Amino acid sequence: MIGPVFCLMLQTRLAEHSVANIFDPRATPAATEKNLALFTFSITGGIFIVVAALLIFAIVRYRSRIPNDLEEPAQVYGSGKIELAWTVIPILIVFVLTGVTGRVIASIEDSPQPSSATHITLVGRQWWWEVHYPDFGIVTANEIHVPVSRSAQDHPTFFTLQSADVIHSFWVPQLSGKTDLIPNRDNHIWIDPREPGIYLGNCAEYCGTQHANMMLRVIVHPAGEFEKWAVAERTSFVPAAQSNPGRAVFESLACVNCHTVRGSVAAGRFGPDLTHLMRRQTIGAGVVPLTPKNLRDWVADPQEVKPGCLMPSMNLSNTELTQVVSYLEALK
Ligand code: CUA
Repeated sequence: MIGPVFCLMLQTRLAEHSVANIFDPRATPAATEKNLALFTFSITGGIFIVVAALLIFAIVRYRSRIPNDLEEPAQVYGSGKIELAWTVIPILIVFVLTGVTGRVIASIEDSPQPSSATHITLVGRQWWWEVHYPDFGIVTANEIHVPVSRSAQDHPTFFTLQSADVIHSFWVPQLSGKTDLIPNRDNHIWIDPREPGIYLGNCAEYCGTQHANMMLRVIVHPAGEFEKWAVAERTSFVPAAQSNPGRAVFESLACVNCHTVRGSVAAGRFGPDLTHLMRRQTIGAGVVPLTPKNLRDWVADPQEVKPGCLMPSMNLSNTELTQVVSYLEALK
């Protein structure tokens, strides 16, 4: 009983310094789940107070006051009333919690999908997120762009969650509860973020060494801006000139087996699509901010930045490194 209460206090404290706060929801699923959490805490908190008060009362009131008292106190055996009370009351509480939880889950899962909905297929990978927009024919990584939605029926975003390897879990606390990404299975969630902004999330299911560095951001665009972003993402990429020395180095290496750069021979699907690399805010699913220095360190040796990640060091010479990084920096 102390566990949940302590967690609540800790989360509330952490919340002052973090935007990833379940008690500050900005979308319908998260708000509904917050109310459920508060309802559950109020019941379990009430039980904690009653049990603690009875315990303290018993300790104080019935302690032995005679020195060297070895006699057992009077014992109560087979009290039908007491046994009935401690059986029936917990069963009723469990029924209430189960019923309310079931109703919340059903209300979120059964929410109808309006024709204005945006569709995203999110694929979990060790250790990053692949984001497909089937309606727009674009693929990005680690940063999920969605439109703002005034209500669940306005411009919500519906996700299909998949995994390419092991079980991951999508969790952006201000937008929705956790939902697992499971190999060979499609899971579904939706969000309707009410305010533009950046919402932080993380993989919430242990998936290997870099699980803690499998972070994601949901970037909520103001009304009308999301479509502009999607069209720009689809059409406005600038492939570097064929003669760009960095491009030549990049395309001569195994980079092209894992990464896609639209308009070039790089068409790998194993790693993040790099077509608009420089539009992202971080490298390696949030492990470091995307700055020229961090990009150079990352290409030089990803294992230094994110040990265990599936991208190897390509052992580039200093000149090659400079050329490849300048090519990557042109991917806007
Ligand atoms: Cu993916 Cu933990």
